[in-house]
Amino acid sequence: MVEARISRRSLLMGGAAITAWAASPVSAMLRTIQPGRDAAAIDALIGQMTLEEKAGQLSLMASAWGGGVATTLNPAGDNGSFAAQIADAVAGKLTGVFNGNGAAMALQMQRAVISGSRLKIPVIFAADIIHGHRTIFPVPVAEAASFEPSLAERTARVAAFEAAGAGIDWTFAPMVDIARDQRWGRTMEGAGEDVLLGRQFAAARVRGFQGKSLSDADAMLACAKHFAAYGAAEAGLDYNSVDVSERTLRDVYLPPFKAAFDAGALSTMASFNEISGIPSNGNKWLMTDLLRGEWGFQGFVVSDYTGDEEMILAGFAKDRRDAARIAFLAGVDMSMKSGVYVEHLPGLVRDGLVPQALVDASVRRVLAIKARLGLFDNPFRRIDLKREKARSRLKTSLDLAREAAVKSIVLLKNDGNLLPLAPTARIALIGPFANAKTDLNGPWVVYGDNAQAINLATGLTEGMAGRGSLAVVAGSGVDKPLAGGIEAAVAAARNADVVVLEIGESENMSGEAQSRDEITVPAPQQALAEALAATGKPLVIVLKNGRALALEGAVKAAPAIVVGWFLGSEGGRALTDVLLGKASPSGRLPMSFPIASGQEPFHYDRKATGRPNPSGDLLPYKTHYRGIPNEALYPFGHGLTFGDIVYSNLAQNSPAMAWDGSLEISATIANRGRREAEEVVQLYVHDRVATVTQPIRELKAFRKIRLPAGASEVVSFKLRREDLLFIGTALKLTVEPGTFDVWIAPSAQADGVHGTFDLSAA
Ligand code: NOJ
Repeated sequence: MVEARISRRSLLMGGAAITAWAASPVSAMLRTIQPGRDAAAIDALIGQMTLEEKAGQLSLMASAWGGGVATTLNPAGDNGSFAAQIADAVAGKLTGVFNGNGAAMALQMQRAVISGSRLKIPVIFAADIIHGHRTIFPVPVAEAASFEPSLAERTARVAAFEAAGAGIDWTFAPMVDIARDQRWGRTMEGAGEDVLLGRQFAAARVRGFQGKSLSDADAMLACAKHFAAYGAAEAGLDYNSVDVSERTLRDVYLPPFKAAFDAGALSTMASFNEISGIPSNGNKWLMTDLLRGEWGFQGFVVSDYTGDEEMILAGFAKDRRDAARIAFLAGVDMSMKSGVYVEHLPGLVRDGLVPQALVDASVRRVLAIKARLGLFDNPFRRIDLKREKARSRLKTSLDLAREAAVKSIVLLKNDGNLLPLAPTARIALIGPFANAKTDLNGPWVVYGDNAQAINLATGLTEGMAGRGSLAVVAGSGVDKPLAGGIEAAVAAARNADVVVLEIGESENMSGEAQSRDEITVPAPQQALAEALAATGKPLVIVLKNGRALALEGAVKAAPAIVVGWFLGSEGGRALTDVLLGKASPSGRLPMSFPIASGQEPFHYDRKATGRPNPSGDLLPYKTHYRGIPNEALYPFGHGLTFGDIVYSNLAQNSPAMAWDGSLEISATIANRGRREAEEVVQLYVHDRVATVTQPIRELKAFRKIRLPAGASEVVSFKLRREDLLFIGTALKLTVEPGTFDVWIAPSAQADGVHGTFDLSAA
């Protein structure tokens, strides 16, 4: 095994390679390429490059090490041998590799390039570090339920600390796609349906990944993806066409990207989808006019995997050469995996179809970012075998994983205060996930190990510490019944005081290419729930899910429902903290749970229509389905606590907001319960009349507060004209004088307290 032999040598040679590099004359020359004073040195380097080497700098390849993990999360492809890939790297045919296997691999490749290549341009190592490296945090949409962007910044920081310790310079995250259709499996990877939350989490994650300075050894370059509107796939079908107006694009889908770039993200990924007939990989308006021209983006654009080449099957490019030409001219600087740039860019330049100056500009961007990552200063700065081990799964990281998981959990329903459970109770823990060693981390984990994650059975066993009793029964498979499963589950339930039923989706039911036509609990698990409900024992449902689910029957009717997502390394302990009341639940839904799958796409910030149905009975010729209202079962922003929260006393410092002024709006939030609670106080606005119809409600601000039992707090928000902007008739941000409704409320559908104000004309 080449890998094994070289990796043993690498272990011994790590320090030596770094010392040799530091002493070499090439290192001295390249070290002049530094953040802030790199332009001339980079131009000098470009001046020495052949066209083939330039195309190589614009080509990222799937790591071939040991077969690589790159293709386990992507369509399988032949990545060749690692030895051949090293030879390619030395020959300048690639800029770096992604989803490789850690520092040993990186050391080998970087050493070969630095010692053997003509120009000694360091390679870059990329990976899908989406919600953790070895310590796995909740899936991103779960973390968004915390309504605490600083939490996502902290978990992204730890992910970068671990991953950069393993040689990774660049993460393909954050995913900042707004997801309004819960059939779409990649909902789990973003921050949900709301634009404000999406913007704040996008920026926080970028800050977390990139740290104080990109050149730090624990910083990773962030990649805001997938540019753009990937989440708007028709019918929630992954990769499907998108046909949104430029207004919706600018109002809804683009703002999280802008927030990520404003926070410093220096790379973005061209989405697989087309928008109104133009694939993103071939969309010059998007990739060049808007991104670089209008927004002044200084980073580079990479294709999503073979997205450039896929323009052939989409019917937009004739062949690989045509695909390379179209993508490059549109503004996609770097091609991932397909190899179309390395194969065709030189020829396209020689034939006059692609200007050499454009190629130089893309190479300049890529080299400038390699410089900002500190790679010219020290190509081995993130490659350190000892550090890789030393940083993995530290206690502080696992503690943060538990904190993040607790804060991600959403309590949808708690009739009769069934929760928290007494640790002395006789509990029947049932469901296919209860004691499983799978489906804990969630989709999009490259380096984490489910076997190291804590399931609910382990969490409850620890939490109960020998008190009460715990019977654990699977009862069903995920999507197939288990022989005798229901009978065993019912027997366990009969001997218990309470049933905790953990059901829902397996890891492979959400994530990429995992669209669902019905977003319900799979039938065998639903049957299990019905049988358990029939025992008459109190039923606590703990959902495992990467998207909103349409709850039915006994699941919907259960007295207590907890959204448990995929919570990562410490999930079972975090769920136990909430179930046994060590922690008070504080998560809020980042997306609406519909009444039925057929409502999708469903989002709270929809338009009124000219025939809205007032709440209450369904009226004829109004906007509703035949049997159900046009509402959520559990709306965006909803989540209960163990307290009893009451909103009152909306107060404004004025009935009007002056054009250049601000308005203070407050409400009193009281906890009349007997337990401390954390409340996410949300402020929504509705613009009553505008030249473009406006959503029935839009989140404009939120604040998370801690309220001891019996305490109350006046929570106040300051609104300005900028908070009321929308994309107007001229497709520009605009704001118009008029009357606005305002709510301070516990969810997008709750009344909370309501007022109005006028924005006066300038
Ligand atoms: C395809 C996915 O869409 C993207 O998010 C990911 O970063 C790449 N594959 C690389 O694994």
